[in-house]
Parts: sequence; structure tokens; C-alpha cells
Amino acid sequence: VTDRASSARAERARRLWDRRAADYDARISGTERRWFRDTRSWLCRHARGDTLEVAIGTGLNLPHYPPDVRLTGLDASTGMTAVAARRARDLGRPLELHQGDAGALPFPDARFDTVVCTFALCGVPDVPAAVSELVRVVRPGGGVLIADHVASTFPPLRLLQAVTDLVTVPWHGEHFGRRPLAVLRAADVVVDREERFALGTVERVVAHRTPAG
Ligand SMILES: C[S@@+](CC[C@H](N)C(=O)[O-])C[C@H]1O[C@@H](n2cnc3c(N)ncnc32)[C@H](O)[C@@H]1O
Repeated sequence: VTDRASSARAERARRLWDRRAADYDARISGTERRWFRDTRSWLCRHARGDTLEVAIGTGLNLPHYPPDVRLTGLDASTGMTAVAARRARDLGRPLELHQGDAGALPFPDARFDTVVCTFALCGVPDVPAAVSELVRVVRPGGGVLIADHVASTFPPLRLLQAVTDLVTVPWHGEHFGRRPLAVLRAADVVVDREERFALGTVERVVAHRTPAG
């Protein structure tokens, strides 16, 4: 029953993102400028070599990667990746796209030099599973780049986020009270750089998988 309930939830979320794909960029653009600031360029400039972006969405990070990076993107929603494909074509950037689940990536261990996930761990059903998959598919020593909106450092706002979660989590799986960095710290990675701003509600992290001993 639990498995069936969770796959029904995943299917509902996928359909929701399919419906949002056409106007996602327009809807998020004000939020991006004011709230997320320069996070996409701050993070993506650290990508090297074969790079996987998990939950790539409409490909808003694409313009921010170094030109020599070879990009693969994965997302649950083909509506979102159709927009990413168009953006990649417009930018003249080769992009290999896959439909799939962040919690069960269809790639072998250590396949990539860098893995990236932005503003999506707030919406996956299982953050430890998604983080463990990110770390599994990056080679030892490879880059792990994540950014998200997270639980605030300001208690009244954190309370408001907890109340908001009561609506947004059942409605479309969006969490405002998470902190993926705590999960990342428990994984096989070394954090190189971290920043948190906007009352602690945005966090961005440059890390690397522990080199093989
Ligand atoms: C808020 S959007 C962020 C898109 C993009 N990462 C960005 O920075 O703009 C969340 C994305 O996560 C995708 N997504 C949600 N759950 C997923 C899952 N379990 N596996 C893969 N993609 C997922 C959605 O389809 C959507 O494209």
C-alpha cells in the first residue's frame, strides 16, 4: 500500500511539473533575482568534465556552466526537459537528457566528474536517497554542487515555513523546512564552500566526493 501510495504521489508530482513547464521560467524569474541571487553562476562555474544535473527542470543553469563541460540532465518531467532541450539548442550546447527519478538514477557508479542539483531537493520524496544517488554516480574526488531553499535560521520564519509545509507537502510535495546540507555532511563528501543568506533560507554548497583511499 505504501509503495502504491508513494508511486501515486510521484506520478501526481510529475504531472504537476509537466503542466507548469510552459510558464515555470516566467513564474520563477522575480523570485530568482530577489531570493536566489547569483546562485546559479556561483555554483555551476565549479562544474568540470562529464557533468550530471539531476532534476534539471527547464535548464535554467545551462548558461552558467563552463563551455567545455559535457552535460547530461535528468528530470522526472518530460514537460520540463522539453523546455531544457529547446534552451540547450538555442544556446548551441549539446545536452543528453533522461527521464528518471532522483532517488534511483539510471547511471553506473562513479560515471560523472561532477553532479549538480539545484532547487529540487525541496521536492523529492526522500532526500537521503537522492543525496546517496548523487554521491554514488560521481567519481571519488568529483564535484557535488547543490543549492536549495532551506529552513530559515530565523525562528519566526522557520515556524512559518513549518506551517506552510502542512499545505505544500500534501499538495505538491514541496518542503520549506528541509536542510539538505545536513544530509550531505553525513554522506561520503567533503564540503569545500558553503554560503547561506536571505535569513538562512537559501543555501549553496560546493563539495567533493571523498577521494578513494
Ligand atoms: C523547482 S523545479 C527546479 C528545476 C531546476 N533544478 C532549477 O534549478 O530551476 C523542481 C524540478 O524537480 C523535478 N523533480 C521533482 N521530483 C523529482 C524526482 N523524484 N526525480 C527527478 N526529478 C524530480 C521536477 O520535475 C522539476 O523539474
